[in-house]
Amino acid sequence: MSGSVYIHGIGELATPIGFEARRGKAMNELRVVPEAALLAVDGIIRWAGPSHEAPAAPAGALEVDAGGRAVIPGFVDSHAHFVFAGFRADEFYWRAGGVTYMEIHARGGGIRRSVDATRAATLAELVELGARRLDTALSLGVTTMEGKSGYGLDLDTELRQLEAMRALSERHQVDIVPTYMGPHSVPPEFAGKPSAYVDFCIETVLPAVAARKLARFADIFCEKGVFELEDSRRFLEAAARAGLALKLHADEIVRIGGAGLAAELRATSADHLLKASREDIAAMASAGTVATVLPLTAFSLREPYADARAMIDSGCAVALASDLNPGSCYSQSIPLALALAVLQMRMSPEEALCAATLNGAAALGLAGSIGSIEPGKKADFLILDAPSHLHLAYHVGMNQVRSVYKSGALVYGPK
Ligand code: NIG
Ligand code: FE
Repeated sequence: MSGSVYIHGIGELATPIGFEARRGKAMNELRVVPEAALLAVDGIIRWAGPSHEAPAAPAGALEVDAGGRAVIPGFVDSHAHFVFAGFRADEFYWRAGGVTYMEIHARGGGIRRSVDATRAATLAELVELGARRLDTALSLGVTTMEGKSGYGLDLDTELRQLEAMRALSERHQVDIVPTYMGPHSVPPEFAGKPSAYVDFCIETVLPAVAARKLARFADIFCEKGVFELEDSRRFLEAAARAGLALKLHADEIVRIGGAGLAAELRATSADHLLKASREDIAAMASAGTVATVLPLTAFSLREPYADARAMIDSGCAVALASDLNPGSCYSQSIPLALALAVLQMRMSPEEALCAATLNGAAALGLAGSIGSIEPGKKADFLILDAPSHLHLAYHVGMNQVRSVYKSGALVYGPK
């Protein structure tokens, strides 16, 4: 569905500008236009700027008075595990009582339990569960969302998770970018043999995923005691040969150099990065690998936040995403992520907005078509229930999104 729409009465239009990631200092430069208007034709932004320079609304375009409210690009949630079955509330309280995430993982809890539940779920059930999370995402202003497999770990269930995302792409307004993340955990069939499991992913699952074009990215939990550097390299090189772009869960719990590997392999993004070294961050800046920070996970695990300040100051493009998953972070609260970015990671509100829109798009290889409000981009944008983007982090954890437009069509909220 795409539409033509003319929005006037915008109190403030705020957007990063560009068709690629904004890096370092450039993240702080937003285009902010008071008293603005916006025109989208057939789903694409045609014009955006000061009201007094606006072109006439073309016949047939939906006319909307924003009533002095702010307009910003739709959020791009570039890291989410939203297709899974089952819950792990008990683990949440164990962690709250002091047991660590990796202790739970080592005891056979953690991801393994979501794998059991997901293996037992049908395609229709996974589609339903995913649809509800996409509904929530849309209400929070997310117009594009990444989704990872990795709760199947066998051929059938990994494909089923990805098939669920394909089915959801056809029926849901939120655009989905699917990622094959077979190496998310070592399944019971390969207990104690991560390298043998990586061989299975490379030889059996990856070719099936690639042949059916079920994923755009490949991702791996590159972590001490899970998949270490050599297995990660082998998997990612095979994924690149199969035509997938690369992502890594890197240096989340122990510093093993995943961020450096991401830079070396020219991965599109490396994510988490709580323990990434200065050298590896510098290498990511040179390689143009987007540094994706996930403060909702650090908050939920009570870990120190990623050093987003150092990343931006060393010239990285930083993206901000939810990491929605049933274990380490059962949250898809973009509002809280924005507040944590500002309050706990010392990002400016401008940097945080850029990280959640244009740089999120870049982390999905989509900065050429989404993530900002400027001519030529898809008309995915939000009208806030506030006069300025500055209200986003300020209303800590509270949704400021009033309406969502996707490809120029109203898909959520009042006109
Ligand atoms: O991104 N770290 C590994 N993967 C997820 C957690 C998945 C889970 O616990 O179910 C993450 O944090
Ligand atoms: Fe994750």
